[in-house]
Parts: sequence; structure tokens; C-alpha cells
Amino acid sequence: GCDKEKLRVVFMENGIDAVIHFAGFKAVGESVAKPLKYYRNNLDSTITLLEVMNEFGVKKIVFSSSATVYGDPEELPIKETAKLGVTNPYGATKLFIENILKDVYISDNDYSIAILRYFNPIGAHESGLLGEDPSDIPNNLMPYIVKVATGELPHLNIFGNDYDTKDGTGVRDYIHVVDLAIGHISALEYIDKNKGIDYYNLGTGHGYSVMEIVSAFSEVNHVDVPYEIAPRRDGDIAECYADTTYAKEKLHWEATHDLTDMVESAYNFVVKNNE
Ligand code: UD1
Repeated sequence: GCDKEKLRVVFMENGIDAVIHFAGFKAVGESVAKPLKYYRNNLDSTITLLEVMNEFGVKKIVFSSSATVYGDPEELPIKETAKLGVTNPYGATKLFIENILKDVYISDNDYSIAILRYFNPIGAHESGLLGEDPSDIPNNLMPYIVKVATGELPHLNIFGNDYDTKDGTGVRDYIHVVDLAIGHISALEYIDKNKGIDYYNLGTGHGYSVMEIVSAFSEVNHVDVPYEIAPRRDGDIAECYADTTYAKEKLHWEATHDLTDMVESAYNFVVKNNE
């Protein structure tokens, strides 16, 4: 994404009229250790992309932002109008890019921009052909659980059971990746017909605790997930889930896959691909 010449070729050779910008580094811990790597890559690539779009007169863009821009939320569920605040360089790059896009829109009201704030994407495509199976030790909950279930890792560390939540473990709004993908189509359809810049939560509106995720995964997949309670992880918040009203109203989109679909497809992908 940082190679402007190659990007120009892509625009030259294809009749592009809208862009979905997914690219970026996304590991929170690494971003704290290597902030410049994150700022250079995530910001530079975006600016290059926007410059090339401008050269080719392409003014429609969907951007993958994150619920991380809400920081530690003051109110739940989280509305798009909630106060923003980031706590690490990765989150800062997401918020900077949102602001860059806002300035681009202010400079030229012909743009159509949809900023999608993802909550916690998990699961895989039902076919078992598309999913995630990182080769290193995962940071995120679901890929870690999968590696414990397959025996690659001995047990899950649950980061804290003394949060002010239903069972003491962290609560998040997990969303099936297929619902997330469909949300992008809805956003593209919307910006195709409407100019402006707008922000949408892509979540289910339901908060599940780490314990609930572990239990559902075990029950649905008939597999043991041994765990130990570990100290809280630095920078984690207790609870985070979306108010999904706005995306429903404006994009006519809402998540339809439930927790069973999410944990089943996540495991199915890895089992199928290890056969
Ligand atoms: C994390 C990022 C977020 C990013 C998202 C991308 C942090 C602080 N936040 O979200 O900015 O947009 O990934 O995918 O890293 N948990 C355990 N044991 C584990 C792993 C996780 O108990 O081994 C718990 C966490 O404490 C949390 C929940 O599971 O309560 C979800 O964690 P995770 O999957 O890492 O996502 P977030 O931290 O919500």
C-alpha cells in the first residue's frame, strides 16, 4: 500500500470506482513496542491510497476502523456519538485515519465515506475455506481458544476474573466475520448513492464474557478448553458492546449469526485445515 507507483498501476488497469481500505498492522502490544512501525505503515499507506484515489477521481471509500477508538467507554451500549479516546499507537492510527478522512471530506464534499468501527470479529466462513489460524502465539481470545482445543497450546489464560461484569471476566461484542463482511457490502451500497462521511458500529449489540465464550466453544464443539485464571492484561477494559441502531437504520444491516455459529465455524475451519 505504500508503493505509490504500483498502486497507480492497479488503478490504471482496473475500472475502480470505490475502495474498501482494510490494510494495516493490528497488534496492540506490538504497537506499543514499535510505535513508529505502526505510524509509518498505517498512516503512510492510507495517505498514499487517498492521493492515488484523488489522481483517479475515485471518491468512495469504506474504512476498517475499530471499537478501540472509544477507549474505555463511559456508557454502554456504545453509540457512534460516544466520546473518543485511544490508549495505544494502534488505536491512535485508527483515530488519525478517521480524522484524515474527515478532513478529506471537508475539503471536497463530493466524497462518500463510510467508517466502520468493528467490535470483536471471530469465526470463519461456513465452507471452512476462509478463516484464521495464526502460526505464532495468538494475542486474541478466539484463535487462542482454538489452539488450546487442538492441543497446540496447553491452556487458556483468562486475563482477570475480578472485573465488574456478570461473572468477573471481560465482556466483548463478538461478531461473526461473515456478518462483518456483509456489513461492508451494505456500506458500499450506501456510499454508492449518498455523499458524505459517516460512522457505523459493526457489532451484534450483545456482550459475552470470556467464560461464556469458553463454555459455548466447549459445548458446541464437544471439546475441552482447559483454562487458568491469570492477572489482568495491561490496557484491557471490563466491558465493551455496541449500540447497533444506527447501522440498522442507515445501512439496513444487522448481524444474523449467533454465538453458536461463531464458535462452531472457528473450530471447523481449523479442524478441516489440519486434516
Ligand atoms: C483487541 C485489541 C483491539 C483490537 C482487537 C482486534 C487489545 C487491548 N485490544 O481487542 O484494539 O481492535 O483486538 O482484533 O488488545 N482474553 C483472555 N485470554 C487471552 C486473550 C484474551 O482472557 O488469551 C480476554 C481479554 O482480556 C478480553 C477478551 O478476552 O476480555 C477479548 O480479548 P481479545 O480477543 O484480545 O480482543 P480485545 O482485547 O477486546
